[in-house]
Amino acid sequence: MLGRLNHIAIAVPDLAAATAIYRDTLGAAVSQPQSLPEHGVTVVFVELANTKVELLEPLGGESPIAAFLEKSPSGGMHHVCYEVDDILAVRDRLKAAGARVLGDGEPKIGAHGKPVLFLHPKDFAGTLVELEQV
Ligand code: CO
Repeated sequence: MLGRLNHIAIAVPDLAAATAIYRDTLGAAVSQPQSLPEHGVTVVFVELANTKVELLEPLGGESPIAAFLEKSPSGGMHHVCYEVDDILAVRDRLKAAGARVLGDGEPKIGAHGKPVLFLHPKDFAGTLVELEQV
């Protein structure tokens, strides 16, 4: 059911500072910032040979990562994103197995212009899971 690891996401309080850590200190290629109002975040992607790291900064007053940063003010690992072939089929299979899909359960368009869904961390070993259809 799961394909490749698409990215690991890290929530950060200051995207420019986090970009500098990855670009200047760690020497990685970092994309330009992209604002995603529908998701309440601004993101950059750190491009690695085998995957990406997504750095997320809150955008707007009701950002889903605001509460996370209140608990972890210096930032921290927020979610992992796995690729799937058919996001609706996977969603229906997981729901039938009792897993909770966040939001209204319908895929939204994510940072790569592809449909994404988020799964409840309590149903997945304490980790927020994003599924992206590729
Ligand atoms: Co993500």
